[in-house]
Amino acid sequence: MSTHRVFTQVRARSPRPPMRATCAVMACAYLTITMSASAAAPARKPAAPAIFSPATLARTDALLRKMSLDEKLGQLNQLFQFRRSSKLDGMVRDGKLGSVLFVADPVEINRLQHLAVEGSRWGIPLLFGSDVVHGHKTIFPVPIGLAASWDRGMVERVSAIAASEARADGIAWTFAPMVDIARDPRWGRIVEGAGEDAYLNAAMATAQVRGTQGPRLGTPDRLLATVKHFAGYGASEGGRDHDAANLSQAQLHNVYLPPFRAAVKAGVGSVMSAYMDLNDVPATGNRWLLRDVLRGLWGYGGFVVSDNNAVNDLVSHGFASDKRDAAVRAFKAGVNMEMASYVNAYTHLRAAVDKGAISVPEIDAAVRPILATKIQLGLFDHPYSDPAKAREIAAQAPAHQEEARIAAERSAVLLRNEGALLPLDRSIHRRIALIGPMAHARQDILGPWVFAHDPKDTVTVAEGLRAKLGDSAALAVAAGVQLKRDAPSPFESIFKEKDAPTWDAARAAGEFDHALALANNADVVILALGEKQDMIGESASRSTLALPGEQQRLMERVVALGKPVVLLLMNGRPLDLAWANTHVPAILELWYPGAQGGAAAANLLFGDASPGGKLPFTWPRNVGQIPLYYGHNLTQDPSEQDRRYWNEPSSPLFPFGYGLSYSTFAVTDLRLSKPTLLAGESLAASVVVENTGAVTADQVVQLYIHQRHGSASRPARELKGFERVTLRPAERKTVRFTLGPEELSYWSSATHSQVNEASTFDVWVGTDAQAALSATFQQQ
Ligand code: NOJ
Repeated sequence: MSTHRVFTQVRARSPRPPMRATCAVMACAYLTITMSASAAAPARKPAAPAIFSPATLARTDALLRKMSLDEKLGQLNQLFQFRRSSKLDGMVRDGKLGSVLFVADPVEINRLQHLAVEGSRWGIPLLFGSDVVHGHKTIFPVPIGLAASWDRGMVERVSAIAASEARADGIAWTFAPMVDIARDPRWGRIVEGAGEDAYLNAAMATAQVRGTQGPRLGTPDRLLATVKHFAGYGASEGGRDHDAANLSQAQLHNVYLPPFRAAVKAGVGSVMSAYMDLNDVPATGNRWLLRDVLRGLWGYGGFVVSDNNAVNDLVSHGFASDKRDAAVRAFKAGVNMEMASYVNAYTHLRAAVDKGAISVPEIDAAVRPILATKIQLGLFDHPYSDPAKAREIAAQAPAHQEEARIAAERSAVLLRNEGALLPLDRSIHRRIALIGPMAHARQDILGPWVFAHDPKDTVTVAEGLRAKLGDSAALAVAAGVQLKRDAPSPFESIFKEKDAPTWDAARAAGEFDHALALANNADVVILALGEKQDMIGESASRSTLALPGEQQRLMERVVALGKPVVLLLMNGRPLDLAWANTHVPAILELWYPGAQGGAAAANLLFGDASPGGKLPFTWPRNVGQIPLYYGHNLTQDPSEQDRRYWNEPSSPLFPFGYGLSYSTFAVTDLRLSKPTLLAGESLAASVVVENTGAVTADQVVQLYIHQRHGSASRPARELKGFERVTLRPAERKTVRFTLGPEELSYWSSATHSQVNEASTFDVWVGTDAQAALSATFQQQ
């Protein structure tokens, strides 16, 4: 380990004392604030509830007392297996594995489980894990789409459905939710989380953990959830997947860590350590993260699993000297279980114990939460998947698909609707051309991380429109262009559907012209564009936000025909829509909407559903603006915020929280329950929201705050509350929010602690991050 790394780690673990010593040279006002702040600063209570029941813990300890050292060490290993194979049989039988990931076939799961249970002296079952990220058999919208629904209840419901389907197959553990804050959309994994904002990510994390695990770990038909990737992975430099992240302590505590804390507070049973270096110390060897924050500050009692091969990779990071060193340092840092594709570095732990580098009580402490989890999940009593249960869950498939359609509708965001082109009118729009590579997409409409679904369940956009229109309209469909990654995806081998053969130049030209000819014959053109499934997700970063391939050219040529055009987007990151936003009258963001995406699209296009989703990130005009997020500090010349470039505006194309509707709304009458409060107290804010349009529709009422002065500068705005409401025409509803210590405190770079300061606070309530309705209160 280099001196620099030692220094960084030690400093991180022993924060400098508050800066009061330097106050003498600072302004008086600052001193006053610091003094009153520290008087008011509460010590934050540990976030975590008890995950395990006393009975589970007693049974765990009784088991631990009987187990040999090698039996205990075996529980710390996890390996991959994709298909039926005997390659792990020996290790499973000999108790050298605690968990296997990616086996999805219930027959194979039961076969391996028999080997484990019958091979072990104590009948210890395997924990089968998989990435059930947005559905198992029923595929829901991708997580960024679910976040765009701003609908906690729906997210909890779909997480519960995914859990029940996976559990029926014998999977007991999912590696979700991913709650990495993403402020750089070049990073492909933005699709797996809830976007740029700490509060929205925390809300979604809570809903996903509750849905996945149920009210407590061990709820029947649910799974063990994993919050990942701890922590800072979304800040990988340049949006390049796996590159290092450099984040200040304030950014970590105020932005990147709160969603993890929320998941811990919701009782999440496992945490996955991230791949990249965080401030020079790899997350998987980062004791400050895994022990001081996670267990020390938050009181987390579950176990930590490494990301795949992340322990072995501590060597390639230039952090550990060899695999043995990597194993010891990850273990000491707080990684309980090691996920690896082929060989576990943790096989070196036995030698480390023999040499005295690791003690048996340390091993016991690492194994205890793994065994307790297996016990609490009921795996010791019911290790095998039950075919009757699987049939019972399978019988619910139609209801699950219906929930997938609702989720896709609620996730959609209407970005533009000039001249109220949408919803389309069946009496006028009788000849419809559906053009673009996403029109027929059966696999790409699902997004990444889908394994167990039946492709026959998927409704493409073309199929959804055909089913909606029947004989009432003529529908012509053409792809027009083909999409392909320049460099192949490392996951190609596991995709269910293989891409069609690449068109040669003559075919490509013919398909393009054919699409234009169909468009030219139509009353309205629906352009279905976006990014293929493998252009987003892990190892799918891009250096541009342009529509891939020839899609921009196709769009421009279609628009030049002079027809009304609707742009239907299927993607997981903001794309460069600067041209579209001035030339295409209607733009509807569907994300990767999942199996019922085509049915949802048809309902939205024809007004049987009204879009009510909101952007979970700030949409930049182009890639050069990145990073662009609403929660920036004011800094110098805030009035120039939108004019920081001389060549074009530095404002976003669409703000965070933005989304149109087929109706209109008024948000009025912002009231605060009191004008002043003492630090530690709470106040209530309320507004009235009214549907002022002609159709029943949803609105997401959002509350933002700004602390005007303090020991550190605070973001221009921070989301601190939201509620999605459905209103009939002329219906009004009062929406209430609470602002208290949880919302008003923050981690100060000046004091190196959580503070809740005396200050003036602005409150805005409205329908996006640029809400204008405001009020002010004082905290004393
Ligand atoms: C690597 C990914 O980073 C992680 O999110 C995933 O859960 C594991 N692989 C297992 O698939």
